[in-house]
This record gives sequence, structure tokens and C-alpha cells, in this order.
Amino acid sequence: MPAVKSSQTVSDALHTATMLLSRSSPSARLDAELLLEYVTGLSRTNFRANPERELPVNAGWSFQQLVKRRAQGEPVAYIRQQQEFWSLLLEVSPAVLIPRPETELVVERALTHINKEDPVRVADLGTGSGAIALAIASDRPRATVLAIDASKDALELASRNIGRLQLTNVSLLHGSWFAPLEAARCDLIASNPPYIAQDDPDLAPEVKRFEPGMALISGRTGFEALDTIVREAPAHLNDGGWLVLEHGWKQAEGVRQRLVRQGFVHVRSHADLAGHERVTEGQWPGAQR
Ligand SMILES: C[S@@+](CC[C@H](N)C(=O)[O-])C[C@H]1O[C@@H](n2cnc3c(N)ncnc32)[C@H](O)[C@@H]1O
Repeated sequence: MPAVKSSQTVSDALHTATMLLSRSSPSARLDAELLLEYVTGLSRTNFRANPERELPVNAGWSFQQLVKRRAQGEPVAYIRQQQEFWSLLLEVSPAVLIPRPETELVVERALTHINKEDPVRVADLGTGSGAIALAIASDRPRATVLAIDASKDALELASRNIGRLQLTNVSLLHGSWFAPLEAARCDLIASNPPYIAQDDPDLAPEVKRFEPGMALISGRTGFEALDTIVREAPAHLNDGGWLVLEHGWKQAEGVRQRLVRQGFVHVRSHADLAGHERVTEGQWPGAQR
């Protein structure tokens, strides 16, 4: 990358960075703006309003370093150490998966099954940064949300997110899937488990390189975690409770079959904005919620 000169303007810096990033990123201009926002503390709107504003030397140098990291494939969210999800600003680190927009569909579906007034118990299995748990907890303050992960590093980060968002209705539990729940039953269980097959050729190299393997890969077929969750969920759901699962875009049929075989009713998949079925839910029979 050409050196960032001390006299560089916002417009020049963004132009140079965009040129460099366009070789490796499909969102080069946006990436450059987000990184400059992070370095300067100014908003993207401000950049557009003041393109000729001169960057302080230090900011120009820091920006150049961050653009280099991005050009090497590191995700913008890890560089900025934050990601927006469901209107919440979450801290992220390489210990957790970067929350994806399609996971908001899990939250959307979960919220349709939880009345605002009901003091229900909800579990989020494989909480990572806490994305699903915190989104549900903030929209349903009367719910108690149990956020579970097998990674202590992920739980430490989720704990900071809970603190920053000042949510008092989320508890973090360490362990594998349902184990920390012991005999407790929930009204809703949500999960975005790892669901990629270990040899999946479609797994983007930069995702594999930067995001934690245990958040992505689930055995030979990709169904290992989903199988465990579907099999064990009935012992942890109240009658009429819901299981809401995210999965890969080719796995919807397989997840539906597993839920039906297990005895769930009202089994249905939902498509994301790209039209791919990415979330499947089922109700444990009994009193209708
Ligand atoms: C796909 S990530 C989802 C993270 C977050 N819920 C989200 O949607 O952004 C899967 C999460 O499951 C966790 N995980 C993997 N194996 C687990 C297990 N056996 N028990 C509990 N959590 C597990 C990983 O640490 C990771 O945080």
C-alpha cells in the first residue's frame, strides 16, 4: 500500500484504502469507511460531509496498519472488536463467531413464541458473544435467559457484553449443550450451533482461518451438534415449548426430518433475506403456548 502522507485527506485515505482492499474484499469501500471510523472516532456521515478534512498523522498511520490487516483477510469486526447485532453493539474477539445478520432470524422467530408479559425461561445453546441470548433478553425483560457455551473464553466475552448492556436477566453457564441445565426445563430453546462438515469445500478460507473451529465445524456431516440438540431438547422443554435452530442452507430438510422423528409438531423452516431456509423450529407437544 502506498504510504499514507501526513497531509492526506479523508477522501484520499478512503480512496487509497478502497483500491487496495478491492483486491480481496467485496465490500472494500465500506470496510475502509468502518476502519477509518474506528481510528478517528468520526462517523461515516461526517466523512461524506467533510471529505477534504485532513487526517492527523497518527490517525493516518493507524488507519494504514488496520487496512493492511484487512487486506490479509482479517474480518473488520475482529479489527474493530465490535459488531452490531439486533441493534445491540457487541464486543467480539477471535474467541467467538462474529454474529451474522441471518442469525437475527433466530431471534425474530424466538420472539414470536414469547409473550412480552410472560416470565418464561429461555436457553441459548452455544451463546458465543451472547448475540441471541442478549437480543432476546433485551426485547423480553421478563424472560430469564440462560446462555450456555463450552468455551470459557466465549463466556468471558459474553459476560462483558452483558455488563455493558446492563442486562440483569441473563445468566451464563459453562458446559456442553444441555449439561449445565441439569434437570431444568425451558419454555424456549434457541441455538445457532456449529453445523459445517469438517471437509466442506464451501467453507471460505478466511472464515476458517480467523473464526474459532469449535464455533463452525460439527463432525463429518455437519449434523453432529444439531443431532445432539434435537435428541436431548425434549428432556429440557416444557409442554408447548419451542426449539428454534439455525442451520446451513442445505440442511433445512434434514433438520425438519429430525424434529418430526423426535416427536416435535408444527415443524417449519424459515428463509433468510437471500431466500435460503436457514432456521427451523418445532414445538414440543402439550399445552399450546
Ligand atoms: C455458530 S457459534 C454461535 C455463536 C452465537 N450464538 C452466534 O449466533 O453468533 C456456535 C457456538 O457453539 C459453541 N459450542 C461448540 N460446541 C459446544 C458444546 N458442545 N456445548 C456448548 N457450546 C458449544 C461454540 O463455542 C460457539 O460459541
